[in-house]
Amino acid sequence: MAKSILSEFIKGLPKAELHVHIEGTLEPELLFELAIRNKIQLKYPTVEALKKAYSFTKLQDFLDIYYAGANVLQTEQDFYDLTWAYLNRAKEDGIVHAEIFFDPQTHTSRGIQFGTVFQGISKALKDGREKLGISSSLIMCFLRHLVELSAFRTLEQALPYKDQIVAVGLDSSEKGNPPSKFADVFAKARTEGFKLVAHAGEEGTEDYVREAIELLKVNRIDHGNASIQDDHLMDALNERRIPLTLCPLSNKALQVVRNMEEHPLKKMLHKGLVVTVNSDDPAYFGGYINENFKAVANALLLNKAELAQLARNSFEGSFLSEVEKAMYLDSIEHYCANN
Ligand code: ADE
Ligand code: ZN
Repeated sequence: MAKSILSEFIKGLPKAELHVHIEGTLEPELLFELAIRNKIQLKYPTVEALKKAYSFTKLQDFLDIYYAGANVLQTEQDFYDLTWAYLNRAKEDGIVHAEIFFDPQTHTSRGIQFGTVFQGISKALKDGREKLGISSSLIMCFLRHLVELSAFRTLEQALPYKDQIVAVGLDSSEKGNPPSKFADVFAKARTEGFKLVAHAGEEGTEDYVREAIELLKVNRIDHGNASIQDDHLMDALNERRIPLTLCPLSNKALQVVRNMEEHPLKKMLHKGLVVTVNSDDPAYFGGYINENFKAVANALLLNKAELAQLARNSFEGSFLSEVEKAMYLDSIEHYCANN
């Protein structure tokens, strides 16, 4: 199929984004604008020089630059502007629902109040619902390189906003920071009524995916690439309908896969797993959700039926209600019947 026809099909396909870090949507241009607004001296003299630094060989290379970039986020307005820019970009890509990560500890550790971060993001999400028609929810991630006590404190800070945070998650440096380190705080989050997700099997092994499921009792795995190493695990993910939120361009940029042709997405899809396509940190990895769809479509030779199934999975794997899921799934069937 001609590339442009597939691009058009992808663009119009209704889809949900389930794995995007709001701090990872900070485009270099906005980063510079906020640095000027907040009188913050940057290490790089120009946008171009900053962009040149976006060359990674592993997750930690990226995380160092990503946390440094987040320093320009200071006020509620900054968090609003960041989130509003993402939502407008998401709209262009046909995203109708987004479940968005934020990392409170990245900000509270610099003296920014939890409420400042939360209010800025959630006001933009409200405007996104009202002005752009994008439904959304928030997922609060704990940074796994920090101690569990810090995660407990963060959970405590989130409790006043509990009805506006759908889930807690786990991100940052995976190797050496297994899910088991956070078993107690995840158990507490569960009793508070939060849904649970965790990054696992991105750089870590399939054991981390198993731990996230068995010890943390997550509803969803973020990445989960390493699951492909273990047939029993793949069967369990399939039988229990535990989604994997895959991020192809991120995996390429961080050398989780050597090239896109080796990405496990198609094998997982054909096994029947609830795999979805997501953008992770699009400002750093060279593309938003449609670029991710196109990258796998081209490298793995996906057809329209497979792309439509990935879009269906994005709603099946979401934290939307069954009624909302049915409505979005209907819109995909309608779209496919006409395109
Ligand atoms: N934080 C932001 N992006 C991440 C990723 N890809 N893996 C782990 N932590 C992250
Ligand atoms: Zn991620």
